Amino acid sequence: MLAAPDSHPPTGATPALRNRPRRNRRLPALRAFAREAELSPSRLVLPLFIHERGDDVPIASMPGCARLSPEGLLREVEGALGEGIGSVVLFPAVEDGLKTLDGAEATNDEGLVPRSIRALKARFGELVVITDVALDPYSSDGHDGLVAPDGRILNDETVEVLCRQALAQARAGADVVAPSDMMDGRVGAIRDALDAEGHTEVSILSYTAKYASAFYGPFREALDSAPKGGGKQTYQMDPANAREAERELALDVAEGADMVMVKPAGPYLDVIRLLRERTDLPVAAYQVSGEYAMLHAAAERGWLDLRSTALESLLSIRRAGADVILTYFARQAARWLAQ
Ligand code: PBG
Repeated sequence: MLAAPDSHPPTGATPALRNRPRRNRRLPALRAFAREAELSPSRLVLPLFIHERGDDVPIASMPGCARLSPEGLLREVEGALGEGIGSVVLFPAVEDGLKTLDGAEATNDEGLVPRSIRALKARFGELVVITDVALDPYSSDGHDGLVAPDGRILNDETVEVLCRQALAQARAGADVVAPSDMMDGRVGAIRDALDAEGHTEVSILSYTAKYASAFYGPFREALDSAPKGGGKQTYQMDPANAREAERELALDVAEGADMVMVKPAGPYLDVIRLLRERTDLPVAAYQVSGEYAMLHAAAERGWLDLRSTALESLLSIRRAGADVILTYFARQAARWLAQ
């Protein structure tokens, strides 16, 4: 046994320990035996911003992310596939001229998202294309649903439009539609609409527990989609609540969701764990723009190491129980993991 340095004379109080957890941490191979959660590119989904313009425009608060041109999108996806990322989720930045009170552009079969899906599916057969179902990029009010003159967000009327939006995406070849709007009953309605048109193989990834979070700030800046009036608290969940996530889960499962999601991820690890324990469906978690921006901001100042904190944040989301993670770090994480 190694002696303690002379500056620390023995006190005679050496503990008699049978259990020494440190034995399992002694060597890298032993630590690998004891490792519970693993991170691999196959678990990551890359969110991408798209727009109509011919150039890629970087997003200041999200280093490494840009609003991509149609060309840029293909290039980005090709790169991601090469790094082992097999799935992307698309978010459109829509021109102001196309934003209306009724968000009609969301249902346009020739809109930016359907055209982008067709281009991706034509070029990359194996790629899984996930689309966002919600009206905020298309709404002149910046809300995920239709806004009544008195400011209320109309539920059932919105669900009608969301169904037509999901159909436009499915017709274009979307593999998975992901309603992020938090209207009641939208999962079942979208399932029925898809099936009625023969899209029985299109999956639904439901944003089951989406919180009214302040961590979406950089995303709303990226898409210029911040709500013009009022917050999203009448449809997105109160950050104080976890039991309510169980209620949303029960509804989504009953309505036919194929996968369920928690968003944001890092501040809601307990909710990820809760869903993991309550369902056998795959559980996804969305590490949102604010979580990404925080790590970058601290790393830029030299206060944190980007690589190790990003990988630790992703591993923690896996440990909490997420099968799949939507993260802007997806490509970089895949490269780090391959090193
Ligand atoms: C809106 C939507 C939002 C995000 C994904 N879909 C923003 C919002 O609800 O206001 C946020 C993603 C992020 O912050 O990275 N349907």
